Amino acid sequence: MDSFDLFVLARVLHIVAVVLWIGGVGLVTLVLIPSLRAMTAPSQRLALFEQLEGRFAKQAKWLTVITMLSGVYMIEFLNAWSRYSSFEFWWMHLMTFIWLIFSLVLFVFEPLFLHRWFHQQAEKDSEHAFMWLHRMHQVLLSLSLIAIAGAMAGSHGYSFH
Ligand code: HEM
Repeated sequence: MDSFDLFVLARVLHIVAVVLWIGGVGLVTLVLIPSLRAMTAPSQRLALFEQLEGRFAKQAKWLTVITMLSGVYMIEFLNAWSRYSSFEFWWMHLMTFIWLIFSLVLFVFEPLFLHRWFHQQAEKDSEHAFMWLHRMHQVLLSLSLIAIAGAMAGSHGYSFH
């Protein structure tokens, strides 16, 4: 396997990981949270959410690591670190920003305080806590979709001026 084969492998892994990861965020945002808000009694909502999203969070951790490693390999291969200093490559900044937010939430904030904090908020006022949870997911999903669109166009030669 030469380094070009490895580059293609990195691109394939990057996209497969992004599809599973952001696809999962899409399902949680567009299907799971709205269904829990509309159909489930507040007393069961939190337990159900923690079970279902807990499972997804485990997968998402692996997927963020694969996305980052394959992304860094592609930057090295393309010798493209200088893109970070050019606004034309805003989609590189956005991809990296999204990766950073998700990684912080999954690996640092959740275990340190976010899980406990959300649990307390949802016990106090379920409607309000789930409304905010939904909003945060909508913002992150929207940014992720913009990053995907920008990266697809940018990495296939479209130049944003
Ligand atoms: C540390 C995090 C990341 C790094 C270092 C990174 C790096 C890269 C690099 C170097 C490319 C290839 C660019 C080119 O061929 O010119 C790429 C492509 C791409 N990335 Fe990322 N990325 C990261 C995270 C993400 C995230 C979070 C998403 C999704 C929200 C994403 C979605 C994509 C997409 C859709 C492509 C286009 C692939 C193609 O059309 O062939 N990346 N990324």
